Amino acid sequence: MAGVSPNKRDNFGSKFGVIAAAAGSAVGLGNIWKFPYELGNNGGGAFLVFYLIFVAMIGIPVMIAEFTIGRNGQKNPIGSFKFIKPGKPWFLVGVMGVGAAFMIFAFYGSVAGWTLEYLFQSFKGGFEGKNPDELNSMFTTFVEDPIRPIVWQVLFVILTTSVVIAGVKNGIEKYTKILMPVLVVIILILVVRSVTLPGAGEGLKFLFKPDFSKINATVILSALGQAFFSLSLGMGTIITYGSYINRNNNLGTTAIQVSIADTLIAILAGVAIFPAVFAFGINPSQGEGLIFVTIPTIFEQMPGGYFFSILFFILLAVAALTSTISLLEVIVSYFSEEYKISRKKAALISSSIILVLGILCTMSNGGVLKDFKIFGYNIWGLLEFTSADILLPLGGFFIVIFVGFFMGKKRVTDELTNNGTLKAKLLPVALFLIRFVAPVGIALVFLNVIGLLKF
Ligand code: PHE
Repeated sequence: MAGVSPNKRDNFGSKFGVIAAAAGSAVGLGNIWKFPYELGNNGGGAFLVFYLIFVAMIGIPVMIAEFTIGRNGQKNPIGSFKFIKPGKPWFLVGVMGVGAAFMIFAFYGSVAGWTLEYLFQSFKGGFEGKNPDELNSMFTTFVEDPIRPIVWQVLFVILTTSVVIAGVKNGIEKYTKILMPVLVVIILILVVRSVTLPGAGEGLKFLFKPDFSKINATVILSALGQAFFSLSLGMGTIITYGSYINRNNNLGTTAIQVSIADTLIAILAGVAIFPAVFAFGINPSQGEGLIFVTIPTIFEQMPGGYFFSILFFILLAVAALTSTISLLEVIVSYFSEEYKISRKKAALISSSIILVLGILCTMSNGGVLKDFKIFGYNIWGLLEFTSADILLPLGGFFIVIFVGFFMGKKRVTDELTNNGTLKAKLLPVALFLIRFVAPVGIALVFLNVIGLLKF
């Protein structure tokens, strides 16, 4: 077929496998840990409104664009750009993405490590009889410990590396297919317990009743960054997974299904957390400890809490794992394809670099490097802000511009209609969103932040 890289590569086996793997990348700590605390920090319902608008008008088009690049290029993000537009600087978008993958994995691995500690505590019955205040100091003591968080983090990175070495079908697809549905079930159980707590209504109000006086340029930027982060967009994860998708898969519907699933899970996490936050008088804007205090508190109020707590943290760790796998896969596919080294070697080298960066992050979060600041951020905060709020939306901007104006209309249309075999009734809508709505939307948010434009 013309215009398609001929490489024969390891592919996802089934349609459900594709969705499970992409949704596995998207659904993770971003939904269950970051979304609630971002929402709590940014005033609740109004943040949600912006978040939803960004997912629909920007996130979905960017995801379709990334799938298009990946399946057409049949390579890692850098290689795909090089294949589609050889000799042009577009591959730099891929370079930025690989850089973002390192940065995100660094702090993400730290939180992923926390899930293992909390799993361990669940087994030990470590939350038993503790009130929210005690659970809060338990969390603080743990993250400030100089050793423990690092040990868990290292373990988590090793786990991720072993799955990635196993390869796409046997590694990634196999695990996500089984575990994602179970996670949804347990969140639903948490939702039921949380909304039936006395005083739960306040939390639902906080979540669903927008108070637009809380909105400013930074809140809007955080909502955009969160949409990109949660959907794994703007840095090549979806390009990479797109390159493993079969030719007969419908890219548009896959993107929509993945985005809807991801958004529903974030909202469900919010509905599980905020009623309990208000019912127990926990501070909704307490930041990254929010779920680690709230969730154990809910379990304490539940028959079978011991058992559910174990199950929950297993699944949270798995959700994190399917996301870190996708982060590492971006880097590994790049190194192994472009430098012709084995997956194993590529994975080992990249995860060592990630570990160094990641341990610095962990140490800056309460440990030894707590007071080391750059532009007012500690290392962790700097990596999190630069990657999620700046690099991802910026990467997304270039991705939609590329697909919208530079990749060639025929090539894009062929990719999205599987060479004309799909009806793709919504194609003109998708193209309009990709070419105009998404880039203009991202640009407006940035201009608003720099103060060049004021809403
Ligand atoms: N989307 C993942 C989550 O919500 C995080 C992630 C971001 C994964 C970017 C890959 C790329 O947890």
